[in-house]
Amino acid sequence: MSITIRDVAKAAGVSTMTVSRVINNKGQVAEETRIRVEQAMKQLAFTPNMNAQNLVTNKTRTIGIIVPDIANPFFASLVKVGEKICNERGYSMLIGNTEGSLDIERRYISVYKSRMCEAMILVAPRVEDKELIELNAQIPLVVVDRKVEHDDIVQVYLDNTRGAEVATEHLIGLGHKKIGFIMGPESVPNSHTRFEGYETALQHADIPLDRELVFQGDFLVETGRAALDYFETLQEKPTAMFCSNDLMAIGVLERANELGIEIPQHYSLIGFDNIFLSSLVSPALTTISYPVLEMGTKAITLLLDSLLSDSKVQMSENLEHNLIIRSSTRSIYGDK
Ligand code: RIB
Repeated sequence: MSITIRDVAKAAGVSTMTVSRVINNKGQVAEETRIRVEQAMKQLAFTPNMNAQNLVTNKTRTIGIIVPDIANPFFASLVKVGEKICNERGYSMLIGNTEGSLDIERRYISVYKSRMCEAMILVAPRVEDKELIELNAQIPLVVVDRKVEHDDIVQVYLDNTRGAEVATEHLIGLGHKKIGFIMGPESVPNSHTRFEGYETALQHADIPLDRELVFQGDFLVETGRAALDYFETLQEKPTAMFCSNDLMAIGVLERANELGIEIPQHYSLIGFDNIFLSSLVSPALTTISYPVLEMGTKAITLLLDSLLSDSKVQMSENLEHNLIIRSSTRSIYGDK
């Protein structure tokens, strides 16, 4: 015979309504009562039928997150902090990894929307603004790591242009004039805004943009390696490189090590993100810190606050970046 919510209510000496409140984590329940109900559920080995619950409450207590690359520590740490907060607040998190594919991203969006999730977090999404605006009208949404020109969309992002400008200015300040740029994937808006920052810093220093020094990467270690091979073929090599993310900078370091090229003696190197690996590699990487944990915390908190209060949060956060100087950059004149 299967145990029902009535059996739990009887064992705990409360109404079925109270048991339901405990299961759904909604409404006022005294702490002592909650404990009694939870103990009764445990003793009776009662597992709430969430499908049935969902039909009644229309709540799945599930949030879907979509990231482009779960193997990148930048996105992994964002997911980790978001999932922790979800669990603490009685929600579960589903994770979709798209490998940067627009098709896979759209598939996850449709699965989350149609079946399982009360809300979504889209991290560095590839879909166009128009689709995000439409989606935002259908389901609670937070867009992370991408600026969307639409006030109704709750978003948490960073001024990538300025961050890239600061990175390039740091190299210029060390006397570098031939600065290679390793770009992120074409399809990602951040790749272009970071390029704009690089270009602006060069302009301010009266350094002409040299297209030969721009290498098309894709935010993966492998393209950092390929970029160094490319720069090594140039007649006039750069003396420094700005890599649009840390993973590509780590790829440059790895390849430099294989080729016996010394960093920062041959090339000064700066990354972007400040993932945990950047302080562990040798030489430790100078980079722009991107407050990814804060970003994940803000995104999930905004979303849960809005779901749990049944109100729409209207807020966007533009977070601060910082230049972290370590050992992979040096003055062109020899002083670190
Ligand atoms: O490392 C991945 C990069 O892509 C990060 O810099 C983040 O901004 C994302 O868009």
